[in-house]
Amino acid sequence: MELNINGQSRTANADPSTPLLWVLRDELNLTGTKFGCGVAVCGACTVHVNGQPVRSCVMPVSAVAKQKIRTIESLGTPDQLHPLQAAWIAEQVPQCGYCQSGMLMAAAALLDKNPHPSDAEIDAAMTNLCRCGTYQRVRAAIHRAASGMATGMKKTALNETTRQKGGAA
Ligand code: FES
Ligand code: FES
Repeated sequence: MELNINGQSRTANADPSTPLLWVLRDELNLTGTKFGCGVAVCGACTVHVNGQPVRSCVMPVSAVAKQKIRTIESLGTPDQLHPLQAAWIAEQVPQCGYCQSGMLMAAAALLDKNPHPSDAEIDAAMTNLCRCGTYQRVRAAIHRAASGMATGMKKTALNETTRQKGGAA
């Protein structure tokens, strides 16, 4: 089965009914996505399919063949953090860390859809569970990332205008 994962074509040999989570972790060695409950409740296994957050523990791999799958491994790099990852560090969000890749993927899907979510919109979108109770800091980090992304976009637009006018960027 051909899968499109993080922009790359990957081949999976698992039974078509195998949950995507286990193909990612056991076959493709993408272990950033975590197993928590296995029944679509906790969100530790959240990945994106065509930009939507999904619980990969209950998603048969056959259902996502030819779809665009994105995992935490593509969110950023140590040299170039995603704004959410930078905000996560600034707000010191993680405790044990186990739920955090799922939290980040859920937050990334939210900001892709809604660049300036309210507290209520964050609470509605972030259905992931954290046994360490990091919810307040998750919310603060999403707000921080949203304003950082807005500032970055303004700077990019300003630099582009300056460049078009022939000034220094
Ligand atoms: S492991 Fe998938 S929702 Fe908990
Ligand atoms: S940081 Fe420990 S479960 Fe969320």
